[in-house]
Amino acid sequence: MSDFTNTGIMVNGLDSVIAANTELSHVFGSDGKLVYCGYDIYELAGHASFEEVAYLLWKGHLPNREELDELNALLGANRELPQAVIEGLRQVSKDANPMDALRTGVSLLGAQSGTRFEGTPTFEEAVELAARFPAIAAAFYRLRQGLEPVQGRADLNTAQNFLYMMHGEEPTEGEWRGLDGYLVLLADHGLNASTFTARVIASTNSDICSCLVGAIGALKGPAHGGAPAKVMEMLNEIGSLDNVESWLTDALDKGQRLMGFGHRVYKAEDPRAEVLRGMAKQASTPEFFMLSKETEDKALAMLNERKPGRKLYTNVEFYSAAVLGAVGLPGDFFPVAFAVSRSVGWSAHVLEQVQVNRLIRPASHYVGPVPDKKFVPIEER
Ligand code: ACO
Repeated sequence: MSDFTNTGIMVNGLDSVIAANTELSHVFGSDGKLVYCGYDIYELAGHASFEEVAYLLWKGHLPNREELDELNALLGANRELPQAVIEGLRQVSKDANPMDALRTGVSLLGAQSGTRFEGTPTFEEAVELAARFPAIAAAFYRLRQGLEPVQGRADLNTAQNFLYMMHGEEPTEGEWRGLDGYLVLLADHGLNASTFTARVIASTNSDICSCLVGAIGALKGPAHGGAPAKVMEMLNEIGSLDNVESWLTDALDKGQRLMGFGHRVYKAEDPRAEVLRGMAKQASTPEFFMLSKETEDKALAMLNERKPGRKLYTNVEFYSAAVLGAVGLPGDFFPVAFAVSRSVGWSAHVLEQVQVNRLIRPASHYVGPVPDKKFVPIEER
C-alpha cells in the first residue's frame, strides 16, 4: 500500500507559516510594532481619521482632500439600511449575541435580489459594507430594546454615525473621537484568524459578503475579537482594588486564561495597548482606570511568575474595554465595534487576494486508522 501521509511540514496552529504576500499591514511581534502600508501605527494614531485609514488600506495611499470627499460621499450614500435587512434583524432573538446579529445582517445584505455582491469583489462593495456594518449593529442595538432603528446620516463620519444610530442623538466630540481613535487602531493586523478566513473564502472566487460573514464568525471567538467583552466582565467581577489579587489568583489557580493578555505574534507589548491605555486614562472615570491599571499590573506580574519565558503582555483587548465603555457602548457590543473597524481590513485583504488569486487549500495529516476496513450494511452492524 502506498504511503498516505503527507510529506509537507505540519505546523499546528500555523504559527509563522506564511500563507500570503500582503502590502497592507505587518505585525513585528518581537519589537511590538504594527505597520499599515508603510506607516507605523504611532504615525496614524491620534492623527488620521478612520476614513483616511480605510482609504489607505483600500487604495495603498492616504487620500488627498478630493479623494477623501469622494470616499465620504460614497460612505454617506450607503448609510441607510435596506428595509429587508431591518425586517430580517427583527427576527433575531433580542438576547442573541450582537455578533450573531451582525453576521445575520451582513448575510441578509448579500441575499438581496439583483446582482449585488455577486461578481469579483470591488472597491465600491468594500465601501458599501464598511458603511453597512455600523448601521446593522446599531439597528440591532435598538431593536433589542424595542426601539425603531435610526437611519444614518450622510453628514456624519463612521464613528459619529455608529453612536448616533445607536442612541438616536449626536455623540459628544469626546465620545466620537474616542471611538474614531479606536477604529483606526483595529483596522488591520496582518494575517490574523478572521482575515485569513476572509482570504480563504475569497480564494474560492466567492463574493465579498460571504468573505466578511465568515470573518465575523472567526472574530467572534474569545481567543480573537470576543475578548474585550470578557475583559469588561472580568473587571466588573473584580469590582474593587482590594479584590484584584485574590480574583486573579483564583482564576489562574483554576487554569483560566486572563482576558486581554497574551498574543500569538506579539512577544512584546502590543503598541495598540499602549495607545489605548493613554486613551482610557483620558476617557474613563479615574476609579475605573485605576481598577484597570491595578488589574493589568498584578496580572502581568502573576503571568510572568507562573509562565516564565512565555512573554505574556497586555494585548489590544484589555484597554479596548475601558475606551469602548467610556464612549457609550455596552460590553456585548465591544466585539461588534472591533468588526466595524476590521471590516475595512478584511475587505482590503479580499481585494488584494483576488488580484493574485490561487485557491488556498492546505493539506491535513491523516492520523486515522489504516484503510483496511470493509463496509458492513447497517442491518449487520
Ligand atoms: N492567561 C493565562 N495564561 C496564558 C494566557 C492568558 N491570557 N495566554 C497565554 N497563556 C499561557 C498558555 O496557557 C500557555 O501556557 P503553557 O505553555 O504553560 O501551556 C502559554 O501561555 C502560551 O500560550 P499559547 O496557548 O501558546 O498562546 P497562543 O498563541 O495559542 O494564544 C491567545 C494566544 C489565544 C491570544 C492567548 O494568549 C489567550 O487565550 N489570551 C486570552 C484571550 C485574549 O485576550 N484574546 C485576545 C487576543 S488579541 C486579538 O485577537 C485581537
